[in-house]
Amino acid sequence: MTIEIKELTKHYKDQVAVDNLSLNIEKGEFFALLGQNAAGKTTTIKMLCGLVAPTSGDAYLEGASVVHNQIAVKNNINISPQETAVAPNLTVVENLRLMARLYGYSKIQAEQRAIAQMNIFGLLTRQHEKAKTLSGGYKRRLSVAMAMMSTPKILFLDEPTLGMDVRARRDLWSILRQLKGHVTIVLTTHYLEEVEVLADRVGIMHNGKLRALGTIQQLMSQTGRPTFEDVFLELTEGESR
Ligand SMILES: Nc1ncnc2c1ncn2[C@@H]1O[C@H](COP(=O)(O)OP(=O)(O)O)[C@@H](O)[C@H]1O
Ligand SMILES: [Mg+2]
Repeated sequence: MTIEIKELTKHYKDQVAVDNLSLNIEKGEFFALLGQNAAGKTTTIKMLCGLVAPTSGDAYLEGASVVHNQIAVKNNINISPQETAVAPNLTVVENLRLMARLYGYSKIQAEQRAIAQMNIFGLLTRQHEKAKTLSGGYKRRLSVAMAMMSTPKILFLDEPTLGMDVRARRDLWSILRQLKGHVTIVLTTHYLEEVEVLADRVGIMHNGKLRALGTIQQLMSQTGRPTFEDVFLELTEGESR
């Protein structure tokens, strides 16, 4: 098991952002955490990455506890966060080189890795453009490419296509499909189509709780609903916060 989540819980004052979440994710799996706004997706990702301390519970990433062994966890993971973190005044290639150098690669290795990632992410033609001048879609490609510079075993993508137009979204999907199987991916989204296109398995969150877990086919047959959208609507019924 690459990720084992055990009764993970986060309280913000009297608000329960994530409520007793338990689930396992296999090596090489493309896992989607689906839910409406405020379902608790980002809080879950932040706890798994060691950016937010759980109120209770724990999670083990490649065997290392996020509560007790954050350094080991951080060696194995990387994240493209919901608020994209690229250096706006650096160019595409400079952002990538910087990341590689931060992770201890030599100058030559950094250059080679930057070129390899730009190839995969379709960024070669933009390599000398400053990050701040890129469209949202390209900025996000850069952010994911930067996360891949450390060769993570586990890659977290928090709402990677939020606010993108249809074409940019499709382009990113086809890039993410290429990563499939090479790295364990945990992606959050509120787009059902994204889950249908990319994910091996899905967890549906609502008001901090995991409401369902399985493949889309499994969820459809369990609930007896004809479409995934019907499944989602049924499982997220009732007031959302
Ligand atoms: N830093 C914070 N302080 C207080 N409440 C927070 C904080 N971060 C998230 N929350 C609350 O926790 C809940 C889950 O938020 P979040 O994990 O961002 O959901 P999602 O990513 O699914 O939209 C929301 O009700 C949100 O307002
Ligand atoms: Mg979020």
